[in-house]
Amino acid sequence: MLGGAADPDEIEFMEHNMAAAEPITSLTLRRPDDWHLHLRDGAMLAAVVADTAQHFGRAIVMPNLVPPVVTRADASAYRERILAHCIGYPKFQPLMTLYLTETTDASDVVAAAQAGIIHAVKLYPAGATTNSASGVRDFDKVRPVLDAMAEIGLPLCVHGEVTDPSVDIFDREAVFIDRVLTPLRAAVPDLKVILEHVTTADGVDFVRDAGSNMAATITTHHLFINRNHILAGGIQPHYYCLPVAKRERHRLALVAAATSGARQFFLGTDSAPHLDTDKQSACGCAGIYTAPNTLSCLAHVFEAESALHQLEAFTSLHGAAFYGLPPADDTITLVKRDEALVFPVSRATANGEVTIFDCGVPLYWEVEPRP
Ligand code: NCD
Ligand code: ZN
Repeated sequence: MLGGAADPDEIEFMEHNMAAAEPITSLTLRRPDDWHLHLRDGAMLAAVVADTAQHFGRAIVMPNLVPPVVTRADASAYRERILAHCIGYPKFQPLMTLYLTETTDASDVVAAAQAGIIHAVKLYPAGATTNSASGVRDFDKVRPVLDAMAEIGLPLCVHGEVTDPSVDIFDREAVFIDRVLTPLRAAVPDLKVILEHVTTADGVDFVRDAGSNMAATITTHHLFINRNHILAGGIQPHYYCLPVAKRERHRLALVAAATSGARQFFLGTDSAPHLDTDKQSACGCAGIYTAPNTLSCLAHVFEAESALHQLEAFTSLHGAAFYGLPPADDTITLVKRDEALVFPVSRATANGEVTIFDCGVPLYWEVEPRP
């Protein structure tokens, strides 16, 4: 079991609920943040942003648009486009990121961070995932940017998969840790690094044992699916994402890490909408759309692990602490209903439907609407 001794809050929570001796049916948490989110642009942005903004306080917004968000000016303009679609949610804060390229200018990154426009830089190994063609091939070329980030405490969000075609797709995260992450940590030890959407026990172990400037985000879907969900009984494009879901033992390691209360692990949904026509194709896109039902899914997982008392740490505390931000000053309440919830199957956009994640089990925990 991860996490070590229970903290005083946890003991208080347990004592309170044991005294009540009733199953928990209502849970109030500081408002969650999503530390890894794809909002896209244009019609897709317009269709999906409310699914996050209605429940979350902040979200780290991924920069893999086409073309990517690479400069301070790009991030600023993208932020404005997002906010233009959040009129009904004035408190929602998109936290912008820059897409690291081999020609990224360190002084532009520092200026963007110091102006409060960006909160992280994203490293995609070139070709690793959706829209990553402009990513990094030669790590020496980005060293000045990484040094500058370490100096100002700006986190690097890492897509942790090698792209070497000779490495099996199910091994790409573990090999990345050996070939890239370990040398990177040794080269720039003061850099804050987040292993995004960790999918393996190897990744969990690495992050848990690393220093205080290393963390990992865990997605909602990787807590539910293993590789059988994608491939057994017919190919399931809506369970295909990158990094691809691994064996069941890896899923169990992720559940243990997320529910453990260990400060290194926090929510990054990686909610990544694609049109159904792009996923249900001979060459389907990677990405799972989880924003609409993520919190209901998470409450289900944490309850099943008898860990509802750790949900707030995972969704609302650890991420903010790692990013050096205060936790939210408001709350949400999740209520356990008697009847299973009914979520829409898909979200409509001007260009077609986007299937919403089906976690495969009935969900009962509902977020109470924002007052
Ligand atoms: C993401 C996307 O669609 O942008 N896809 C995914 O499968 N997770 C990119 C990413 O985070 O890898
Ligand atoms: Zn992502």
